[in-house]
Amino acid sequence: MNILVTGAAGFIGSNYVFYMLDKHPEYNIVGMDSLTYAGNLETLEPALNNPRFDFAKIDITDKLAVEKIFEEKNFDIVVNFAAESHVDRSIEDPGVFLRTNILGTQVLMDASLKYGVKRFHQVGTDEVYGDLPLDRPDLLFVETMPLVASSPYSASKASADLLVLAYNRTFDLPVTISRCSNNYGPYQFPEKLIPLMIANATADKPLPVYGEGLNVRDWLYVEDHCRAIDMIIHDGKDGEVYNIGGHNEKANIDVVKIILKQLGKPESLITYVTDRKGHDQRYAIDPTKIHEELGWLPTTMFEDGIKMTIQWYLDNESWWKNIISGEYQQYYERMYGNR
Ligand code: NAD
Ligand code: TYD
Repeated sequence: MNILVTGAAGFIGSNYVFYMLDKHPEYNIVGMDSLTYAGNLETLEPALNNPRFDFAKIDITDKLAVEKIFEEKNFDIVVNFAAESHVDRSIEDPGVFLRTNILGTQVLMDASLKYGVKRFHQVGTDEVYGDLPLDRPDLLFVETMPLVASSPYSASKASADLLVLAYNRTFDLPVTISRCSNNYGPYQFPEKLIPLMIANATADKPLPVYGEGLNVRDWLYVEDHCRAIDMIIHDGKDGEVYNIGGHNEKANIDVVKIILKQLGKPESLITYVTDRKGHDQRYAIDPTKIHEELGWLPTTMFEDGIKMTIQWYLDNESWWKNIISGEYQQYYERMYGNR
């Protein structure tokens, strides 16, 4: 089996490459990534020594380069993680989100059609459902809900989902889509909530909590996400959408306090800053479909996963300190300087 994993040098893509190489000793994997600010080839170092893994530095919107590698490698399955993924950056500059997340997906699907790919899997997000009210804990996202995006990021991901389903219906491209809740774990870029708070707390810097910190996210350990996608690409039904989430809802402020407690740092580091524009209130996944159809259940509870994650960041300081020493400084100043 030949598998293409796009966005392989990012957070979830790299974890997925490691998971798949380990789980399927007979599969060959190509990791494709254009190495944007969020992609880091150093992350893939353990895989680069594996003869069953190849890395290709290709932008998914580059039709010629994409077609060339599809022609060479004869992919059976494509798993598309490549995306611009940070909501705050999409509010600053939406254009690149539309280019990569929508047009890049189209380029990959055209190549998949042309070269006879047997399954195109689109890695989607629960943010395409918009948000849920804080005072209705009974409401959860189900696959049949309409798409109502709040940010340029989620609008671009919703557009990509619609395009994927259209390629299935119009051109018979075999597809599946997964829509997962917020991930956390090793190798997450320190602009996202959990690694940013770990990095700041470690350095005794203020922890910027948006608004009152009451927004709720539904957290899933990254390896549980990788396992779910593995199940979907093998046993998921053509043309279907699968929600992935583990009933782990937490208010942001509670996540921040757990991190501080675990690191032995004072809550006085918490600083409330101006809220994000259009800030989604609550995400919460109903994972009944993937559980009942494919037997997936999460295995890592938040209490354990957050400890493992914090320990990973403590043990791998050089990985994220390298990152926050570069362009990240300007980003941080732009995003948080006058907030
Ligand atoms: P990430 O930002 O860490 O990684 C994205 C990767 O894509 C980076 O390595 C980047 O270099 C690469 N990339 C960006 N533009 C590219 C292009 N034009 N061509 C080739 N490569 C390009 O993101 P992530 O958190 O790992 O998310 C991966 C996927 O999972 C995304 O599609 C995202 O929408 C989805 N998702 C993420 C979460 C989450 O909590 N992080 C939850 C649900 C779904
Ligand atoms: P984030 O990790 O950006 O994921 P998403 O917006 O895709 O869910 O943010 C998670 C939550 O944390 C979100 O409600 C915004 C909030 N947040 C902060 O309060 N402070 C921060 O510095 C960041 C990055 C996020």
